[in-house]
Amino acid sequence: MGNKSINANIQQAVVYLRAGKLVAFPTETVYGLGADAQNVIAINKVFTVKGRPSNHPLIVHISNIAELDQWAINIPNEAYILAQHFWPGPCTLILQKHHNVAPEVTGYQPTIALRIPRHPIALELLRQFGSGIVGPSANTYGHISPTTAEHVIHDFNHHIDYILDGGHCELGIESSIFCFSDNKPSMLRQGSITLTDVSRILGYPIFYKSLTNSSRVPGSLSSHYAPKCPLYLVNKLDFLPLIQSLINKVETYSVLSFSPPPFNFNNLHWIQAPSDPKQYAKLLYGVLRKLDLPQSHVILVEDVPKHTGWLAIADRLQRASHGNLNMNMLDKGQ
Ligand code: TXA
Ligand code: MG
Repeated sequence: MGNKSINANIQQAVVYLRAGKLVAFPTETVYGLGADAQNVIAINKVFTVKGRPSNHPLIVHISNIAELDQWAINIPNEAYILAQHFWPGPCTLILQKHHNVAPEVTGYQPTIALRIPRHPIALELLRQFGSGIVGPSANTYGHISPTTAEHVIHDFNHHIDYILDGGHCELGIESSIFCFSDNKPSMLRQGSITLTDVSRILGYPIFYKSLTNSSRVPGSLSSHYAPKCPLYLVNKLDFLPLIQSLINKVETYSVLSFSPPPFNFNNLHWIQAPSDPKQYAKLLYGVLRKLDLPQSHVILVEDVPKHTGWLAIADRLQRASHGNLNMNMLDKGQ
């Protein structure tokens, strides 16, 4: 596939989807790997191309709240409140699956994930297609999610049929996910919509339900969104002394820091991170891809602040990392 398959022709993308082909499309969060949610052969292709285990559920994207009851049943009132407030937008709702939905879509689970994205190209694609489109992030399984069409090409090369180019994704990290048990929402994945946002809308506090290492929920695996080169998070106080200890080493290191590089060096590939969490989130996955150099020994990331606006970023960095680095580990050749 040459770059001619990167395009902005929505009508052509619809033709491909109707023919059971795979179409990557932009959303406001990350690019999705789209297929007709009613075509089991196309859905199986998504799992094969991504290398994703077949019991890991997909999100179905729709274009209108009125379509919800074609995909889900027993929809709680709270789900409608969130849908009306946050759709179109970076909010995914886990609901009881309608019996018409093929079990392959939901990884054989009784629940289904649904969202209306707000990227104009995604919305127009959904409207013209007229039905649900499955859309896992358009990266190979476990790798960093794509925020540009070029990232999608990098992961899939000629294995997908068409890529709709919508430029750089606005938010840069995947949607917040909410589930409902006893009709009360809880958050399963952190994203741009926070617990505070939802609690404010509902008028009572809701909580994050950590599903660490649940094999059914890929974004909840503790190792996910990962570069190939080992990534370590480094505490702010340890950061500068650690960097100073690296200047005489022979290896190359990739570094993501809030500060500019403190001195000249040859062996540090340094990127300065934005201090605003929205900008940081937007650029994060592209930056991780740039830091993931074959010649790099490790990627060192200065840990991010602990307050609300940074929680989704802290979550993704934690999952991308091999853990927290302490100074002795580099000497032991980690
Ligand atoms: O922002 C996003 O959500 C992007 C864009 C393309 O829409 N999509 C995305 O899809 O991140 P994916 O497949 O990479 O992540 C989907 C996540 C899974 O990791 C899982 O946590 C959750 O959706 N999920 C899907 N179905 C579920 C279900 N039935 N129960 C619990 N979690 C589910
Ligand atoms: Mg993903």
